Amino acid sequence: MNFRELTVADVPAMFLIRAAAKENPMPLISGLKFLGITVAGEAEKLKTTHKGFICENDGVPIGFVVGDGSTGELWVLSVWPEYEGQGVGRKLMTLAQEWLFTKGWDKLWLTTGIKPSRALTLYQKLGWKIVGTLDHGGSYRMELDKPAASTGPILG
Ligand SMILES: CC(C)(COP(=O)(O)OP(=O)(O)OC[C@H]1O[C@@H](n2cnc3c(N)ncnc32)[C@H](O)[C@@H]1OP(=O)(O)O)[C@@H](O)C(=O)NCCC(=O)NCCS
Repeated sequence: MNFRELTVADVPAMFLIRAAAKENPMPLISGLKFLGITVAGEAEKLKTTHKGFICENDGVPIGFVVGDGSTGELWVLSVWPEYEGQGVGRKLMTLAQEWLFTKGWDKLWLTTGIKPSRALTLYQKLGWKIVGTLDHGGSYRMELDKPAASTGPILG
């Protein structure tokens, strides 16, 4: 597995991977339009405020994550179903979190469906906390605090 930064050329692969997800499914085309999610729009985000990482297996994209550096939001995460459970999601989350913290955010946030899911379990294992509900109770808002800087070894 190879992890690298996402480029605009990866945007069509992002849509394919996200559309394949079984949990937290991507909304239908009408829903995407409503949310303003288009290929051109995602490419523009990557050129400006957003940054992401992609995982490839033998050169084939199998998972990606994108964060919004202008708000501290963990924007989207998805792994191709056949490759779930191999640590790809956790590694992608770690890369995006580290990048967002380097942008100066002390607290990151995301929204996710309230149904029990692999995503919810992963976020909680990574230290994200549920801080409220949105979408008439259909989604959680979760937040992650920047880890305290290491103070180095304690002298005895
Ligand atoms: C959420 C998602 C990205 C996780 O990706 P992944 O590559 O399977 O994640 P990992 O292999 O790193 O596993 C992360 C955690 O998932 C959970 N998990 C792994 N395999 C699991 C399984 N078979 N059943 C249930 N949970 C499982 C574990 O809690 C695991 O924690 P661990 O790292 O301590 O073992 C992936 O399942 C996915 O794309 N889901 C659909 C899209 C989605 O929900 N995106 C988020 C929208 S808000």
